[in-house]
Amino acid sequence: MPKIVLTDITKRWGDFYAVDHLDLVIDDCSFVTLLGPSGCGKTTTLRMIAGLETPSSGRIEIGDTVVFDSEKGINVPANKRHVGFLFQNYALWPNMTVYQNIAFGLKNLKKYSKQEIDEIVRRVAGVVKIEMFLDRYPSELSGGQQQRVAIARTLAPEPEVIFMDEPLSNLDAKLRLEMRSELQRLHLTTGRTFVYVTHDQMEAMTLATKICLIENGVLQQYDPPLDVYGKPNNLFVADFVGSPSINFIEASGVQNAAGEMDFTLLGDHRAAFRFNSGLKMADWRKREAQADAEREAKRAALAKDKKHVEKGNKDQVFDYPIALVEGERKKTAPTENDYVLGVRPEMIEICAQGGIEAEVYSAMPTGMETTVRLKVGSFLLTGVVFGGVTYEIGSRVHIRFKDSGLILFSRSSGRIIDTGTLTLR
Ligand SMILES: Nc1ncnc2c1ncn2[C@@H]1O[C@H](COP(=O)(O)OP(=O)(O)OP(=O)(O)O)[C@@H](O)[C@H]1O
Ligand SMILES: [Mg+2]
Repeated sequence: MPKIVLTDITKRWGDFYAVDHLDLVIDDCSFVTLLGPSGCGKTTTLRMIAGLETPSSGRIEIGDTVVFDSEKGINVPANKRHVGFLFQNYALWPNMTVYQNIAFGLKNLKKYSKQEIDEIVRRVAGVVKIEMFLDRYPSELSGGQQQRVAIARTLAPEPEVIFMDEPLSNLDAKLRLEMRSELQRLHLTTGRTFVYVTHDQMEAMTLATKICLIENGVLQQYDPPLDVYGKPNNLFVADFVGSPSINFIEASGVQNAAGEMDFTLLGDHRAAFRFNSGLKMADWRKREAQADAEREAKRAALAKDKKHVEKGNKDQVFDYPIALVEGERKKTAPTENDYVLGVRPEMIEICAQGGIEAEVYSAMPTGMETTVRLKVGSFLLTGVVFGGVTYEIGSRVHIRFKDSGLILFSRSSGRIIDTGTLTLR
């Protein structure tokens, strides 16, 4: 099975960059999800790999074959790229049975005998568990069964790479969960490379071996799901993955001689943040300045190129949300001593005493867990407690920050600094 390599791929319409200098390596047999908000460029990326859209510049390799190269003028047509495509709005032929729907593409290939086609149809129908419906028409199937027929139809010609663009978007929550688990099994049993588009972060988290998170055409992070969750590259990524969302807490202070960040946060509370890695902020700043200089040099070089078109849809530092009981936060220009702490809901511990005093603002039990919103001064924090715990709204509790996975970000660049622990003073 092939590996897919995208090198410096850009797709723009006028000065609108749908995909902006994307480098991506999709490993053989992996299950990669392209994730990001609506309009970020997921479908465009997929269509370029499949050959349904021509990149403005860059190079794409599938296995040993260069299928696109703007410099060399190579552009292999879609039907020669051996990829299977399941569109967002898959449509089954209503006048054909399930069997005919699956067989249709195979007949068109003109490389299989009737008997071979029959074998393939029955085999893929078995894989997605619809062999008992082969004689039915699509209208006689439930939504989930139709979806499976569409998947079977995509699998039938044995594509080496399978692209799926939001294939589960039409299903109800329960069926989605079931289909997700079946897709995971399917990936395992077929041993193919799956590239899967979704804007549902839960789907991306649960299915992928690697998540490719895109925003405004720019790759934000490409890592295994738990790395994206635990060590997000920037505030945007931290906010995009995780449900309930991560808490952002503004913190100001400097690093003391012992290496701890002496922070003031949530009003006038004092706390010490200790980096897991023993990071020195001075070193981090030096590295960041160097990276910034490199980025700037690259930008300047691009701007000199006569063919270069300035990006109209500018990239901006993510405007992280801070939940307040009422009103909006006052935005001030950050200094180098201003930071943002990312605290996942499960890292907030509710206790009887000690820590910071808080008031239960709302409590939403699901049975398995309870999402509690806590009021600290004018701030609202979201915590998740496992088990069916009841909290009286308005009652006073205390909170602490457990776990060593709190994430510190630079407020000015929005980029991650490192993870660590927070101890209240
Ligand atoms: N032919 C076109 N001409 C101009 N702009 C286009 C064209 N096709 C797509 N775009 C723009 O490119 C951007 C990326 O589109 P794309 O379809 O890749 O988004 P997406 O990430 O798949 O979003 P969604 O989750 O809504 O499906 C969008 O802002 C879209 O408006
Ligand atoms: Mg799309």
